[in-house]
Amino acid sequence: MANIGVIGTGYVGLTTSVCFSKIGHKVVGFDIDKEKIHRLNSGKSIIFEEGLEDLLQEGLNSNNLFFTDDALKLKDCDFYFLCVPTPQDKDGSADLSYIFNACVILRKVAKKNASIVTKSTVPVNAWREISNYLNRSDLVIVSNPEFLREGTAINDFFNPDRIVVGSSEKLKSIEVLELYKNKVASFVITDNTSAELIKYASNSFLAMKLSFVNDITSLCEKVGANSKDVLLGFGQDKRIGDKFIKPGPGWGGSCFPKDVKALLRVSEKNSQSMELLVATVSSNEKTFARVVDKLEILLGGSLVDKKIAGLGLSFKAGTDDYRDSPAIAIIDRIVGRGAQVSAFDPVVEIKEKFNFSKSLNLIEALQDSDAIVILTEWNEFSSLDPNFVAKFVRQKIILDARNILDKDTWERSGFKFESLGNWA
Ligand code: UDX
Ligand code: UDX
Repeated sequence: MANIGVIGTGYVGLTTSVCFSKIGHKVVGFDIDKEKIHRLNSGKSIIFEEGLEDLLQEGLNSNNLFFTDDALKLKDCDFYFLCVPTPQDKDGSADLSYIFNACVILRKVAKKNASIVTKSTVPVNAWREISNYLNRSDLVIVSNPEFLREGTAINDFFNPDRIVVGSSEKLKSIEVLELYKNKVASFVITDNTSAELIKYASNSFLAMKLSFVNDITSLCEKVGANSKDVLLGFGQDKRIGDKFIKPGPGWGGSCFPKDVKALLRVSEKNSQSMELLVATVSSNEKTFARVVDKLEILLGGSLVDKKIAGLGLSFKAGTDDYRDSPAIAIIDRIVGRGAQVSAFDPVVEIKEKFNFSKSLNLIEALQDSDAIVILTEWNEFSSLDPNFVAKFVRQKIILDARNILDKDTWERSGFKFESLGNWA
């Protein structure tokens, strides 16, 4: 049983905290956000994540877990997991200022010979900057990138495809690996730089795979092929794999967009061409535009003064996270072509001002709409009854940009129906 400090208790930090306390470690979650600390210590999750609140309460009740904004409470930890934000900087590189804020704290309170574990996605060779900034030769940096997916984060923590640890001291890497007490998962023990690059390479390849899938799906429409069958045959090749090949309105979220851009910046700085990644980003932009083009064609060639019901705001189902959401990128483009959008999402609570109206419920979004566009693959949308929907809309037109609906069912109810890639 180890004493673990987690700095930054957002999506990654909170998941990491509750899961390590579940394993039996003593965990102190540190965050600068007092309100968040208060909510967490009262057993309330601050994010929508399957199973997380139960594990949170279990951890609090077992006295294995508590949250604080008092850095001195971190002084007895042997491991400090950095889970603070590494957002995009103006030029697309990763901004390390929050990491350095955390280093200022750890320089003062970190226990002698402790390990500083980077879990936040940091640029390649950032570990050197972090080590210099800490300026404590007794503290070793262990790079341990996370591969958690929002919506399945708890499962991904306990059943990872692999655990990656990298540092200049192999023993320190092994100590971090052993914290997971995972006898079955594959693992990679390497150096810091390689561990950092594994994260970027993985996320960027997955984004590239999706851009390719979305382009092939669009080609299906042009050549008259059925994308469902095409991708089935494509994914059955074990070298390609049947995971991560679901066509959609484009990829987004709090990781892919910023990680792809950050890898592009690192490559540029090291004079390494990355045309594939440049194309991955531009292809994704084109996927957003293609969804809007399809809607415009469905509505006779113009979106001006049309009322559109946008179903879904989160970047994917299963999370309340709408950071860099494809849904919001597409709604923005629909409004840009002169339409009004009423958007509904079962869990997202919008904090900022956007150019669309957020509906309180599904009916409000559907009311008098000229067309519906499905943007997030929530179950409640895939089980929609077209006859129920028909009661509220002005025109029976629907674009399923997540391929979750049954074409025949909607057409039988008189809807003009479109999906992606003749999916059927
Ligand atoms: C973060 C990183 O942004 C991402 O790059 C990495 O891959 C995973 O960790 P996430 O957990 O989604 O992602 O971030 P977020 O949900 O924003 O949580 C970060 C937390 O750090 C917030 O609770 C914030 O209050 C806290 N924080 C921020 C600090 O405690 N100190 C700071 O200086 C800044
Ligand atoms: C991602 C990585 O998967 C995870 O390993 C890493 O730790 C953080 O970033 P996440 O951001 O939660 O996780 O989202 P993910 O499930 O990967 O989806 C990313 C985007 O791709 C979403 O917009 C999603 O809708 C889209 N997607 C995903 C598809 O369009 N089709 C698919 O088959 C899978």
